[in-house]
Amino acid sequence: MPNYRIAPSILSADFARLGEEVRNVVAAGADIIHFDVMDNHYVPNLTIGPMVCEAIRPHVQVPIDVHLMVKPVDRIIPDFAKAGANIITFHPEASEHVDRSLQLIRDHGCKAGLVFNPATPLHYLDHVMDKLDIILIMSVNPGFGGQSFIPEALNKIAAVRQRIDASGRDIMLEVDGGIKVENIAAAARAGADTFVAGSAIFGKPDYKAVIDAMRGQLAQ
Ligand code: DX5
Ligand code: ZN
Repeated sequence: MPNYRIAPSILSADFARLGEEVRNVVAAGADIIHFDVMDNHYVPNLTIGPMVCEAIRPHVQVPIDVHLMVKPVDRIIPDFAKAGANIITFHPEASEHVDRSLQLIRDHGCKAGLVFNPATPLHYLDHVMDKLDIILIMSVNPGFGGQSFIPEALNKIAAVRQRIDASGRDIMLEVDGGIKVENIAAAARAGADTFVAGSAIFGKPDYKAVIDAMRGQLAQ
């Protein structure tokens, strides 16, 4: 069985109590904290930046996975690395120089990855597989939590799984958007190993019950 990871998205957490929220969700079994950065330019919403990453960093030991939904990309990468990010991903069509952005992330000591929107083609992978630690497939259009899973994402996950396996490299395959207890197994069968879930976890009072139920689905 792959090493499955649950990555709660704090987009749906209570921002007035963020330190407590991240501590609670890690205590409930989260493997990673997923940190959604939106700029009201690349996506039509505005969220949180490096200062908030720095503020939550001392509260948890698990990796912080920064999902950049921003354009331009490069300027903000060093700030997130300094703020304690462990993983930084960006959307390739938002970067003028994808290879350079990936290298910049790695040079700052973080794991680097590309994010694919539902309609973004996978050809961006063609010449950079050796610089990737993670590939993130969006199963909603980025910008908001609480949207419905787009089923076509399963075919895309399967296509990326083939490419990762063919590469022989250890690259995480993350899925983000509309993941719930009911569909996490389908995403795993398609080849995902890391599962972002925002509203499904933070929308319920008992985070551990949801994460345990997700792991139960993955164990079948
Ligand atoms: C969407 C974000 C997601 C989002 C997931 O743009 O990248 O991480 O918070 O939220 P849910 O799980 O509610 O779809
Ligand atoms: Zn995200």
